[in-house]
Amino acid sequence: MTLTFLGIESSCDDTAAAVVRGDGTILSSVVEGQTALHAAFGGVVPEIAARAHAERLDGCVMQALDQAGMALRDLDGIAVTAGPGLIGGVLSGVMLAKGLAAATGLPMVGVNHLAGHALTPRLTDGLAFPYLMLLISGGHCQFLIVRGAEDFVRLGGSIDDAPGEAFDKTAKLLGLPQPGGPEVSRAAEAGDPKRFALPRPLLDRPGCDMSFSGLKTALLRERDKLVAAQGGLYRQDRADLCAAFQLAVADVLAEKTRRALVSYLEEAPSAPALAVAGGVAANTLIRARLEDVAAQVGATFVAPPLRLCTDNAAMIAFAGIERFRNGGRDGMDLTARPRWPLDQNATPLVGAGRKGAKA
Ligand code: KG4
Ligand code: ZN
Repeated sequence: MTLTFLGIESSCDDTAAAVVRGDGTILSSVVEGQTALHAAFGGVVPEIAARAHAERLDGCVMQALDQAGMALRDLDGIAVTAGPGLIGGVLSGVMLAKGLAAATGLPMVGVNHLAGHALTPRLTDGLAFPYLMLLISGGHCQFLIVRGAEDFVRLGGSIDDAPGEAFDKTAKLLGLPQPGGPEVSRAAEAGDPKRFALPRPLLDRPGCDMSFSGLKTALLRERDKLVAAQGGLYRQDRADLCAAFQLAVADVLAEKTRRALVSYLEEAPSAPALAVAGGVAANTLIRARLEDVAAQVGATFVAPPLRLCTDNAAMIAFAGIERFRNGGRDGMDLTARPRWPLDQNATPLVGAGRKGAKA
């Protein structure tokens, strides 16, 4: 029987609900962002996020059911993000899911938000286990071997900023608008990536861990030198700085991905695949470099459409179905967890990230 689940997501700054079938059909996917609410503060304010989630979740769920042409009784279960993330937001979602489960008698499944991202290539492309996943967004940065719906091996990740966060901070340093990723990459098109020699952090060390905060500091130093020498930045300076920054991030991601692929290929997957998720996967240069690295070792490259790469509830519904199929169920004792690493055996990453502790 094909299962149909409602998914609920509220772990960061997107309030989302979706209705998804186990065969990968997305019947509806509603995402209400909060960018405008946090814009004045230069980052996500947890209290504001939690309040907005609490106010908007009901409406998102109703809209998702409406668009799917379904009522609660047509569902087979409810999946909800139970962490990791900003605790107030996660709690809002978990409380709503509990209320709905209690009222309808439907089974409830708590989902790890990162598992939602990591399983998306199965939702979109039916990818078989095991595949290598690179999560690169404003809040996440890690390599995972996805062996099963609840079986993940983390090969490494950023020890400080996520790459999207570094793009956003770079944009801020150069007076470009937010979100910074698309702005920096647009400016980089007219730039010379060789004019400034920015570092390639942690490339000299073995393994797949990454660091992006030093890169931003190096860029700040170059900016300040220019400002001191000429009183400001010309458009070309900005373009060259953006191009140098983007190339440095792409170089680091490409080399670390090459290493992660080597570890992953040791598992001798029958159909090797590299999948990416997260907003930074939208970057044309980074994407091309990752595609290249995958092709060099004969791995298929999978990049789900952007609306499913960024935070959404369809991935939560689908991950919930995968857990449910494995016998996963939660009761009224389901707790919201601010931290919840996918790979319990991996050493914790140091950085918490702008959007809260993620893994
Ligand atoms: O997946 P996403 O929506 O996650 C978070 O909410 O964290 O990703 C957003 C991040 C932002 O930091 C944004 O600047 C970055 O992805 N981003 C990009 C590009 N488009 C979005 N970074 C680099 N190049 C892009 N084209
Ligand atoms: Zn996310």
